[in-house]
Amino acid sequence: MSDDPTPSTSTDAAAAHGVVVLPDADATRAFGRALAGVLRAGDLVILTGDLGAGKTTLTQGIGAGLGVRGQVASPTFIVAREHPPLGDGPALVHVDAYRLGSLDEVDALDLDSSLDDSVTVVEWGSGLVEALAGDRLEIVLERPRGGVDPRSDDAPEAGERRVTVRGVGPRWSGLDVAALTR
Ligand SMILES: Nc1ncnc2c1ncn2[C@@H]1O[C@H](COP(=O)(O)OP(=O)(O)OP(=O)(O)O)[C@@H](O)[C@H]1O
Ligand SMILES: [Mg+2]
Repeated sequence: MSDDPTPSTSTDAAAAHGVVVLPDADATRAFGRALAGVLRAGDLVILTGDLGAGKTTLTQGIGAGLGVRGQVASPTFIVAREHPPLGDGPALVHVDAYRLGSLDEVDALDLDSSLDDSVTVVEWGSGLVEALAGDRLEIVLERPRGGVDPRSDDAPEAGERRVTVRGVGPRWSGLDVAALTR
C-alpha cells in the first residue's frame, strides 16, 4: 500500500472523518477512553490494521471508558467476548474476526442478539460485519512507514500510530474526531 496523500475531503455529508496520531500505547488507550464517551448501545465499531497495530489496545481503552467488567485481551480461542457493564452503560462485545473466513461463521456468533444493548467492537471485521448495523464507525490503525522496523516497537517513534476514523451513516454525522484527543 502506498502512502495516500488524499486529503480528508468528505464526499458523504453524513460521514465524519478524521486522522489522529497517537505516540504510544497509553495514548491509544486514552483515545479509546475518549471514544467511549461518545459510544452508546447499538453502535458498531470496525477496527482494521496489521498484526500488532493496536486494535486490542484501543479496545482496552474503550472498555475502560465504558466501565465494563473483565480484562479486554486478545482472544486466543474465544472469538467473541461479552464484557457486562459495571454501571448503567452498555456492555462491550469484543470480537476478533481474524480466524473467521465466512459470513456463515459471523452469523454463528449471533452478534445481532447483543447488538442493541452493547457497543460491538470487531477487530478484522472489515468486509464481514458491515451488515450488522446501518451505521458504523470504521477505524484504521497504521504504523509509520519508512526507516522503522514495523515489527519492532523499540526504535524511536516506533510506537506512533496513525489512526483514521470514518463514520458511516447519520449516527456519526456530528462526530468531531480531533476533539477526542483534546
Ligand atoms: N501507539 C500505540 N498504539 C497501540 N499500541 C502500541 C502503540 N505503540 C506501541 N504499541 C504496542 O503495540 C502492540 C499492539 O498490540 P495489539 O494487541 O493492541 O495489536 P492488535 O492490532 O490487536 O493485533 P492483532 O492483529 O494481533 O490482534 C502492543 O504491544 C502495544 O503496547
Ligand atoms: Mg488484537
